[in-house]
Amino acid sequence: MKNILVIGATGFVGGYLTRQLVAEDYAVRCLVRNPDKVKDLAAYNCEMVKGDLSDPSAVQHALEAIDAVYVSIHTLAPQHKNTAELDFMDIEMQAMQNIVAGCRMHHVRRLIYVTSLGISADTKDAWTSGRWKTQQYLFNSGLDITVIQPGMIVGIGGQGFNMVLANARKSIAFVVGNGRNKFRCIAIDDLVYHLIGVMNEPKAYGQSFEVGSDDVLTGDQLIDVAAGVIGHPLPKKIHISLAVLRFVAPLLEVIAKSPKGAIKGALDGLGADMIGDPSAIRKLLPRQPLSYQQAVAAALKDYQKK
Ligand SMILES: NC(=O)c1ccc[n+]([C@@H]2O[C@H](COP(=O)([O-])OP(=O)(O)OC[C@H]3O[C@@H](n4cnc5c(N)ncnc54)[C@H](OP(=O)(O)O)[C@@H]3O)[C@@H](O)[C@H]2O)c1
Repeated sequence: MKNILVIGATGFVGGYLTRQLVAEDYAVRCLVRNPDKVKDLAAYNCEMVKGDLSDPSAVQHALEAIDAVYVSIHTLAPQHKNTAELDFMDIEMQAMQNIVAGCRMHHVRRLIYVTSLGISADTKDAWTSGRWKTQQYLFNSGLDITVIQPGMIVGIGGQGFNMVLANARKSIAFVVGNGRNKFRCIAIDDLVYHLIGVMNEPKAYGQSFEVGSDDVLTGDQLIDVAAGVIGHPLPKKIHISLAVLRFVAPLLEVIAKSPKGAIKGALDGLGADMIGDPSAIRKLLPRQPLSYQQAVAAALKDYQKK
């Protein structure tokens, strides 16, 4: 694999992934809605193709002469007006159908999809069950698919970790949910190592891998360990009920211009444990991931460098 398309390069995971692919001398093209968001990537010789995933012709154009495609997207962000009537997971499914059609047109067989821990056949909420359907659609597409499922990703720019870090710096932390749900953690560099590692590994075709370090912490513990790394006194926690936030979610979606169901879906995701089992990926790619504490320290070092 030499010519790689990253979809989601303006985002947290896609941005780190793109920089590492370039560092490893891959020829990288990015399909982005707004190239101004990633001017630095253009300076790294990444080719930018402007387009929205709801536009089949833009997706097809981006897939021309590509060997492998990464899909690292989130439909919490405002979406194109031509999908205004759709629910957020239907938008993701439609995007995936456009990508698969583009892959077939240009004979691109290799596709790696970043989702999340906690996606399985028996999940009930809109987000995780929607992602399960998308994943099944991909596995039935006839392409060489790998799905990578992280939990809490530790790195500057990650929405979950940004909230943890902001709370760790306060004397009173406002925590969404009861603070007792558990999350398996992974440093962004370890996640990117897995993403690139599976690309050229035929044993990963048709597989879904849960990834993460050995550390599984509650929401409150994530804040306390981060406070310890910063050297800040442990914050007092005030927990904000998920039920209340779910009630006001439709209003928040209008204010944030998010698609229908997106914020409620994200809140449902926060209300469940995200633990999984990373043993299968460790057999395939034997690198010991950083602990949560080490990952927080690495993220802060990364931040100071920027
Ligand atoms: N962050 C975490 O802690 C975390 C944890 C577990 C799993 N994950 C998973 O990792 C994946 C990536 O998450 P992330 O945190 O990197 O998300 P993110 O920072 O919100 O990035 C999402 C990306 O999707 C792009 N996108 C959304 N709608 C699009 C459309 N219609 N057309 C083209 N591009 C579109 C966004 O482009 P714009 O910049 O134009 O909006 C952005 O580049 C997701 O599957 C997420 O569930 C993340």
